[in-house]
Order: sequence, then C-alpha cells, then structure tokens
Amino acid sequence: MTKPQDRVVIFDTTLRDGEQSPGATMTHDEKLEIAEMLDAMGVDIIEAGFPIASEGDFEAVRDIAEASKNAVICGLARANFKDIDRCWEAVRHSERPRIHTFIGTSELHRAIPNLTMDEMADKIHETVTHARNLCDNIQWSPMDATRTEHDYLCRVVEIAIKAGATTINIPDTVGYTAPRESADLIRMLLERVPGADTITFATHCHNDLGMATANALAAVEAGARQIECTINGLGERAGNTALEEVVMALKVRNDIMPYTTGIDSTKIMNISRRVADVSGFQVQFNKAVVGKNAFAHESGIHQDGMLKNPQNFEIMRPEDVGLSATNLVMGKHSGRAALRAKLHDLGYDLGDNQLKDVFVRFKELADRKKEVYDDDLVALMRDSGTEADEKLQVKFLRVICGTQAPQSADLVLTVDGVDHMVSAAGDGPVDATFNAVKQIFPHNAHLKLYQVHAVTRGTDAQATVTVRLEEDGRIVSGQSADTDTVVASAKAYVAALNRLIIRRQKTGTDQKEIDYRDAVH
Ligand code: KIV
Ligand code: ZN
Repeated sequence: MTKPQDRVVIFDTTLRDGEQSPGATMTHDEKLEIAEMLDAMGVDIIEAGFPIASEGDFEAVRDIAEASKNAVICGLARANFKDIDRCWEAVRHSERPRIHTFIGTSELHRAIPNLTMDEMADKIHETVTHARNLCDNIQWSPMDATRTEHDYLCRVVEIAIKAGATTINIPDTVGYTAPRESADLIRMLLERVPGADTITFATHCHNDLGMATANALAAVEAGARQIECTINGLGERAGNTALEEVVMALKVRNDIMPYTTGIDSTKIMNISRRVADVSGFQVQFNKAVVGKNAFAHESGIHQDGMLKNPQNFEIMRPEDVGLSATNLVMGKHSGRAALRAKLHDLGYDLGDNQLKDVFVRFKELADRKKEVYDDDLVALMRDSGTEADEKLQVKFLRVICGTQAPQSADLVLTVDGVDHMVSAAGDGPVDATFNAVKQIFPHNAHLKLYQVHAVTRGTDAQATVTVRLEEDGRIVSGQSADTDTVVASAKAYVAALNRLIIRRQKTGTDQKEIDYRDAVH
C-alpha cells in the first residue's frame, strides 16, 4: 500500500508582504476580490494585512475575515500588546482566525529596539502569551531568523512554543540564505528545540538572490510543513517565494518531493493576471509558470518537437495552470454572449452591468483593430481606467508631435464633474500631456515609473501603460490600454492620481501609514 503523502500548508501573503512592496497598493475592493480568489483556489491561510498599519488595512483584514469561507485568516502584529489587540479585533471575525506576531532576533535587528538578548526573550514570552490568551492559533516569527545566532534562535523558538505559539515561521527576511542552509536550519531546530515536534515549522523566503523557491522547497524536505508565498512572487525588492512555483514544483516533481497541497492549480493563471492588474506589477515575460512565454515555443526545432509530442519540451500542460489552449480571435461582429464566454475562459466573470461597459469598450477597440486577441481582452480588463464616480476623468486629448518642437497637448480633464481645458507644451507628446494634467490638477507627486508594453504584434497593437507616482511616501500605480499610446499614458496617469486622492483621504495629509519594517516597539 502506498503511504499517504505529507500535506504542505500554503500560506499566502500577497495581501500583506506583497502589498507592502512600494507601489503595489490595492484598493479595499481589490483586496477582497483577491482574497476570494485565494480562498477559492484552496489557499490554507491568507495573511490579509497588518491591521495596526492604517484604518484601511484594519478594515480590509476585518472584511476578509468576515467573507472568507474556507481559509484561516491571519493578520500581522509587531511584538506589543497594542498591535496584537488590534490584530485580534480584525481577525476575530473569521471562523478560523490566526494572529501572526514577530520580532527581529538577529544581532542587527535586536539593535533596532535596543534590547538585550534577555530583554527580548522576556518580550517574546509576554507577547506570545498575550496573543495566545486571545486566540488559539498563533504564529510567531523571529524576523531575520537566517542571520540569528543558532543558540539564541533555539532559545527564543522554545520560549515562543512554551508561550503557546502553534506555528513557528523561519523568515529569510533579506533573502540571504541558500538551499542547503535553509534545510539545515529547520533540521537543527527540529533536533534541538524541546517541543518542536508539537508545532508546525513554516518557511518564509525572500528572493534577493533568486533562491526563494529553492529555499522554501529545501525547508520542506527538512521538515517544514508551511510555505509562505505570494502570487507572482510579489513583494518588495526581489519579492517573496512565488506560490505558483512551489505549487507546480511539488506537483511536477512529486516523484522526488512527495508532498501535496490543497491548491487547484488550474486557477493559477487567472489569479496571476488579476494580481498583476491590481498591483500594477506586470509579470516578466519569462517568469516561471505564469510568464507570457512560459509555454511559448518559438524555435522551429521546438515547434516541430511539440507537434510530434508535447512532452518533448513541456513538463506541464498549459491547462494545468489554467491557460486556455485556444486563442480564438474576436472581432467587431462578435456578440455579447461570445465576449462573456471568452472573458469567462480568461478568468473574468462579469455581472450584467460590468459586461455592458466592457462590451462598449470592446466594440470601440474592435472598430480600430481588426482582430482582438486574448491578450487584447486581458489588457482591456486590466485597464484600471476611471469609474464614473472618480474625481478625474480624461475627456478629450489631442497632441501635436513630430520633428518640430515643441510638442503640445490640448486636454479636457473633468474634475468633480466640471470640464477644464488647457494647452501645454513638453519634451515629447507624453511629457506635454502630463504637463497638461498637472496644470489642471496641480500636485507634488513624483513620477517613479512610466512603462509601455505592446500587447500584441502589429502596428495597430494596443499599448499598455503603467504609471507609478510617489507623494510623501505614498506610492500608487495606474494602468491603461489603448491603440493610441499617448491616450493610454494620459489615462494611466489620471488613474494613478485618482488612487492617490483615495490614499490621501484614507491617511490624512500628514498622517503616514505604519510600515512593519519600522519595527519600533
Ligand atoms: O520577511 C519577513 O521577515 C517578514 C516577517 C514579518 C515575517 O515578512
Ligand atoms: Zn517577508
């Protein structure tokens, strides 16, 4: 009889560690939507946010806790009673709540709150005990664990277990560790810490050296049974372990890594697209599993081999991650039902009103572009555009560009329902357009990123433009797609400004959001 395989718990932190990456801010509704998708795909634990960070974070964690059907809902808290109480306030609305509390334990991180080893040990005992008095499911993390002295790490892990932690997470906070070390560390803790066999060890890896997935899998082989990860590997700097990579690695290489997860892998592609949309972080083309080229076979030799037998060059099938095999072309004669069915295949289930709006935009696009491909529709859906109730709307734009400077833009921007018209000059049509927006809606936000991608081939291809802005530490992104690159640029810029306005309202003009890395306790 075959032995049942060990189950590895998938802990998704897209909405916490992922969202804290500068510029990846999501709105309340977007967070709820992503949480619903994570829940539906079989994620075991959703880290929904850091409730003390801002009112917005608190509300998102609370509402996700109320809405989620299956997953454990977890919130992050630093090692103090105020953070922990606030976290509990938010997660207690879940049927399966978890508090995740942490403190930096390496020599470098102990210096931040200026605590001695003994003082920190007392703080861990106090805070984990407090959290456990509120909730049965407690996760504790020694931040920067992989650079913490081994004896001290064993000591504090033992204290946290005795105080009631049920999961001990071992973060490689700065992405410094290598696979063999990652495994050795878990093995060492399992061997040396009394009570280690009564709790679950988790692995939380950052990708600074490109080893996050390898480190997570090595930790599992050594005995960790929870992987912390994000969709698309989203996260600050080089990101976190990518959920899709560990899940597919465990599936495809189950012969040498005999562990199961509860993830429905066919839902991977849709959530990957949606996270890219709402975070404004495009997935690199050659990204493992979810990149645009991950299943593309361009070279003649590969195409020939693929036709003879897909297994020649494919270790997993596109359908396994939810990629539809066909790329049925749509055009101006395609009807509403065909569009609905196509969008459903691409992972977008729209209500009647939403479909009405998208259908109008689809027809406009099909009038300008003979063939509308899957990627065009994804770009259309990705367009963060403007909702009717948003403050700023692009109404009209005409640019003059060419070899003769200065280039100029005539723009009508609607602000709170009132049309404003200006003409502005600039160094190129995009600069002129942005100057025009700034004349009508003056602001101090700095342009951090301006990115243009051609969605498909051909000179009539749509361009997707991403704009990222920063104002007083608040970073926001906007995205738009159009066959006219300058129009897409104007709309993306205005979409980012609309998000900035929401962020200002949420946090007040001079109130900054708390960042978990400002770990002053
Ligand atoms: O990377 C890290 O150390 C973290 C902790 C808060 C778990 O994200
Ligand atoms: Zn992290």
